[in-house]
Amino acid sequence: MKTRITDLFGIEYPIICGGMLWLAVPELCAAISNAGGLGNITACNYDTGEDLREAIQQTRQLTSKPIGVNITLMPAMRFTEESFDDFFRVCAEEKVEVIEVSGRPAVKYLDMLHKAGVKVMHKVGAVRHAKNIERYGYDAVIAAGIEEGGHPLNDDVTTMVLLPRIAESVKIPVISTGGIADGRGLAAALSLGAEGVLMATRFIATKECAVHPNIWQELIDRQENDTTLICKTLGLQGRALKNDLTQQVLDLEEEGTDLEQIIPLLSGQKSKTAWVNGDANSATLMVGQSIGLVKEVTTCEELIQSMVKDARDILTAKLACFD
Ligand SMILES: Cc1cc2nc3c(=O)[nH]c(=O)nc-3n(C[C@H](O)[C@H](O)[C@H](O)COP(=O)(O)O)c2cc1C
Repeated sequence: MKTRITDLFGIEYPIICGGMLWLAVPELCAAISNAGGLGNITACNYDTGEDLREAIQQTRQLTSKPIGVNITLMPAMRFTEESFDDFFRVCAEEKVEVIEVSGRPAVKYLDMLHKAGVKVMHKVGAVRHAKNIERYGYDAVIAAGIEEGGHPLNDDVTTMVLLPRIAESVKIPVISTGGIADGRGLAAALSLGAEGVLMATRFIATKECAVHPNIWQELIDRQENDTTLICKTLGLQGRALKNDLTQQVLDLEEEGTDLEQIIPLLSGQKSKTAWVNGDANSATLMVGQSIGLVKEVTTCEELIQSMVKDARDILTAKLACFD
């Protein structure tokens, strides 16, 4: 496949793994990059820039292909402004091929990153934000629909509308995320103006993702209506799997409880433990509506190959409609 994204990032297929706190680590990153996509190491897994450097170097031992790093510029108790400065500086020094930024724009780092040859993309949920990202000089923008796992923008616009709106509004390449998990999603995204797709939930259901088998079964069993938006009333909405804990958070929100009292329920440590011990009821597990499309656990190679083949078959068959 060839799009501006494959050219820009030096990858074979425009299929990218998004940031995944605790899950996007060297082994998974390398498996995705080795399969021709772009793997991801999530900086916030690590306490310091030097820990991130170690993870990047570990990944380089596992793949010679381009890799990506996610840096989430959102308020977090574990990080200071200096922590973020370190993350970006280390990525430039290690010449990571691509950085995915989410949260506030990384304007102050762009010059340094570009001088080091690093390409930078930003995840947005609105046309106005996409236009800003282009103006700041980013290389690409990710259009994130409300279907996505993680923290979709509270504009709540779906991929089906957001993607073409952003694609018609900027000249830099657009990557689509939110609700994509197979070749049908890839074909649809290309048709709507994307030059690549970014997924997270579907990559959890790969053999190279280090989660407990119970989590894989949960992903297969649960359907597209099994996620919910928590913390919407607190201006910090996140899409997570429906479970007892997310219901507890929603109940507290309805009672008007302060964020300080809800924060302990959202603890990152709880989700870190749950991914590994397989107790899907004990933490807020970020997943997207694409969970409804997860049918099996595959290798990253099988996933990417099947997506490319299915997208090609679908688009070729649709052309026949016009004969
Ligand atoms: C387990 C999990 C953790 C995530 N953590 C982050 C994160 O740390 N930073 C970030 O920018 N996005 C994060 N996201 C969002 C993804 O990068 C991506 O935008 C989104 O999940 C795409 O939707 P999908 O899951 O339907 O593919 C996370 C998503 C998941 C599923």
